[in-house]
Amino acid sequence: MLLSGGAPHGLDWVGGPCREGSALSSGYEKGEVQMCHTVYPWHSNHRGELSAGQLLTWVDTTACLAAERHAGVSCVTASVDDIQIEETARVGQNICIKAKVNRAFNTSMEVGIKVEIEDPFTNLQKHVCTAFSTYVAKPAASKKVYLKPVRLQLSQDHLEYSLAAERRRIRLYHEDAYSNLMEEGCTIYDAEWENDQNKILTDSTRVESIELVLPPHANHQGNTFGGQIMAWMETVANISASRLCRTHATLKSVDMFKFRGPSTVGDRLLFRAIVNNTFQKSVEVGVRVEAFNCEEWTGANGRHINSAFLIYQALNSKGEYRMFPRVKASTKDSIRRFRGAIARRKIRVARKYILSTKQEKNISHPWDKGNQAYLSYNNIATLSVLAANNGWELSSTLPNIRICTHEENDILSIKVEMQVKVQSQQAYFLLSDLGLRPNWDMHYLSCEVIETAGEDDKIFHITSPPVKQSKSRDFVILMSRRYTSKQGDPYVIAMRSVTLASHPPTTEYLRSEVQCAGFLIHSLGKDLCQVCYLNQLTPGILPYVEENLTGWSNSIEETASSCIKFLETAQVYTTLL
Ligand code: COA
Ligand code: ADP
Repeated sequence: MLLSGGAPHGLDWVGGPCREGSALSSGYEKGEVQMCHTVYPWHSNHRGELSAGQLLTWVDTTACLAAERHAGVSCVTASVDDIQIEETARVGQNICIKAKVNRAFNTSMEVGIKVEIEDPFTNLQKHVCTAFSTYVAKPAASKKVYLKPVRLQLSQDHLEYSLAAERRRIRLYHEDAYSNLMEEGCTIYDAEWENDQNKILTDSTRVESIELVLPPHANHQGNTFGGQIMAWMETVANISASRLCRTHATLKSVDMFKFRGPSTVGDRLLFRAIVNNTFQKSVEVGVRVEAFNCEEWTGANGRHINSAFLIYQALNSKGEYRMFPRVKASTKDSIRRFRGAIARRKIRVARKYILSTKQEKNISHPWDKGNQAYLSYNNIATLSVLAANNGWELSSTLPNIRICTHEENDILSIKVEMQVKVQSQQAYFLLSDLGLRPNWDMHYLSCEVIETAGEDDKIFHITSPPVKQSKSRDFVILMSRRYTSKQGDPYVIAMRSVTLASHPPTTEYLRSEVQCAGFLIHSLGKDLCQVCYLNQLTPGILPYVEENLTGWSNSIEETASSCIKFLETAQVYTTLL
């Protein structure tokens, strides 16, 4: 292990830009660590590729060191979020891992990790994966240790800090999402599956393996390293997948690893794996780990330490992805696991695409039980990322209203900053009550709540007046709001379109969509705040602001003035304050 000097050129920290200096020198903030390794043959498989287990071990070690650097005491891995592996490193290449504590909660903290490959011959760098792990401070005496907050310096630090809270909501909601999908009976009837005569049994993919935890596998307090357990799990899962593939399988992604309980030196860890289901080009393998100490060893069941689900792919002799036959599930256990794999796949796809804050092809995602937390996350995260973008150009300014535009990859966004003489909290409650918006926004004809997913996430049906002889428009919008927990953080009210089966488009209105819009409200003093309105313009919104952008009207300024007047004269929101 090398705590390297100097960040490799051009690479960014997960939570901020890289700076020069050694990981432990004063150039780096506490809670930031880098590790660089050259991939040698003993780290690799028979094809000369870095083994996924070794990668997971290095990732966990780097992240744990970053966590311990922030906490100042020993830490244990509580969980590692889903990981998608985009590139495979080969013998002779260098692996650079950077880890940084994004946010400390109470006793736990989120560490962001970024892994890159550096090729010493071509000087090329490739992104392997980005991961987020949670560590809990656990010194020897097992009382709880409350962590100090992370020092936020750069705007990127602030952004990662607020997104970490959203990721935590999703992490802690993970099991509920899975149970909801299983309750819904996540097996959509598939006639092709029923009629397929070539389904295969997966019994031959069952693998069992045992490991004795020795001192090199554990920290100085004797707790087994999470990365070591993940590496052992990957080994058995890989063997199981390879039995089905009849060739060596490559790990493509991992569902969340959750460490349910500790294990220590002397434990015997029993790993059991089997293929749960196949999806055309990929295979899901599940692994269960139980720990036994010497005395428990004669019993049937040990302590349940971890269950994880790993996705493998394999190439055929032509270098194309191997297609897999359908799986035959006949016993009670195999049917449960078969269905579980379908539910996990649904969650994985939702997490991958919805958690991404990149511009999407489909603006509206369906709102259903399985993805509510991800859509709320996406709503808040996309708005926070848009606000944090560099390159906003000022396009007009009045005494208390500034309008800016931002252009990137043919996407235009507007930002309207308003200074309002009202308490920030009051502005937050008034603006997040969308039912009040027709009072000040001429683009809102009506607005009614059509679904409530808690106090802070509601879905509204909104109608807007016609523009240029076209029909009136309507929108189905998810509004997610977040109350600031820390002085200096803004209140956030985010809006994006969703689809609801109960509210399909009708002939009466032209159904339109919002990609990302909303308010960030910063306190500027006791009775003064800045309300910042953002909107990433979609074809559905553009007609309403087009004339303003081309200089033909002042509709944005007029709406902003009307908003300020409404906020400054509205009755105090006594029920909520
Ligand atoms: N993902 C992320 N954070 C989690 C989590 C999970 N799956 N489970 C618990 N946490 C967080 C809680 O949110 C809480 O955070 P906070 O204090 O910042 O609010 C913190 O962990 C403690 O949770 P609590 O409910 O008090 O404790 P617990 O009894 O659930 O224990 C662990 C949590 C992680 C300490 C416990 O499950 C454990 O010891 N696991 C094994 C850890 C280990 O040894 N790993 C190495 C490999 S075995
Ligand atoms: P579930 O069975 O509901 O998926 P578990 O935590 O019991 O949850 O197991 C996780 C995964 O580990 C299973 O999906 C399966 O793939 C694998 N597994 C569990 N028990 C065995 C076993 N006895 N033999 C082989 N694989 C197993």
